[in-house]
Amino acid sequence: MFWNTLATGALLAQSASAQNMLRFGCSQLTVERADPLVAPGANPSPHTHQIIGGNSFNLTMEPAKYDPPSKSTCTSCTYSEDFSNYWTASLYFKSPENGTFQRVPQFANVGLQQDGGMTVYYMPYSAQNGKMTAFKPGFRMIAGDPMLKKNTNKASICHRCLGNGEGFAPCDSKDTAELPAKYCPKGIRATVIFPSCWDGKNLDSPDHKSHVAYSNSGGLGTPNCPSTHPVRIPQVMYEVMWDTGRYKNDAWYKNGKQPFVYSFGDGTGYGQHGDYLFGWKDDSLQKAMDALPSGKCANANCNVLKIQSAAEAMKCKKAQQVPEDVGVGGGWLTELPGGAAVTYAS
Ligand SMILES: *[C@@H]1O[C@H](CO)[C@@H](O)[C@H](O)[C@H]1NC(C)=O
Ligand SMILES: *[C@@H]1O[C@H](CO)[C@@H](O)[C@H](O)[C@H]1NC(C)=O
Repeated sequence: MFWNTLATGALLAQSASAQNMLRFGCSQLTVERADPLVAPGANPSPHTHQIIGGNSFNLTMEPAKYDPPSKSTCTSCTYSEDFSNYWTASLYFKSPENGTFQRVPQFANVGLQQDGGMTVYYMPYSAQNGKMTAFKPGFRMIAGDPMLKKNTNKASICHRCLGNGEGFAPCDSKDTAELPAKYCPKGIRATVIFPSCWDGKNLDSPDHKSHVAYSNSGGLGTPNCPSTHPVRIPQVMYEVMWDTGRYKNDAWYKNGKQPFVYSFGDGTGYGQHGDYLFGWKDDSLQKAMDALPSGKCANANCNVLKIQSAAEAMKCKKAQQVPEDVGVGGGWLTELPGGAAVTYAS
């Protein structure tokens, strides 16, 4: 039932439920070659990202010194106390006819109103299993690995071909680690699931991963965190809805081929990844996590949080700090911004 409601986008029952979670939309803040986590200060960073959240997003955001809630004046997310930044690579269509690139736009998920961007989840594993500890100021992490060239990560990073009979749980057997090798009339949903356990000490780590851990081999968590990472954190998940339905031509999806490529040159999708930089105001996220079992805090209607209108959230935009054409207007580019060569599975 839990994942069924997710799949349909229906609101969870307003009764006390062990299964409540936050699920909300954040509109596009900016699209540019910036990466304060992996390439702080770089102008430009190697590849294009699509970024949502607080407008204090910057080329450099030093942990615990640069404070998004006090530096931001707006957020593109439903919850107006959430000045976090969330980003992933952008997706491009590479024309099989002439090799030029067009950025694939994003659309709103079921039941949400937004302008591009993505759907953000903060999930518990099970309310019976006790408290979750919200992230601390300065916390950041990465899920997925842009260098991956083979199928090893399906539980945490996956793609769903929409319009072919939807599946059930995120990254279930209907999903694929790679970009689907067929036409997806209702879009491709890319899912990024972050770890749900923390070492309790480090806000970050050199690989932006070792301070956190999955409670199992990856994907959706259980309440059992390993002793090295004993602190249960909310499980963050992104869904990005890529509007691939507009690229309809049988010839483009023949013999295991498909025409999409991620901004870092990945033509298979195994290297899809997401970046998370915490920025909720004060203890608002902790309050929300504590309120989940009450039944009054769920999805985009959590009664202990401040909610802004979709129109307000959509107004929050940030001009590129790395000004260049990354294809946001729908134009054709002769190469991926940054010039990454397109590679396929090894
Ligand atoms: C972003 O970084 C630049 C350069 O370091 C700085 O001048 C600017 O004030 C920062 N933006 C915010 C919102 O702090
Ligand atoms: C390249 O091909 C795409 C279709 O694959 C087409 O829409 C676009 O106009 C073409 N561009 C040029 C410059 O021919």
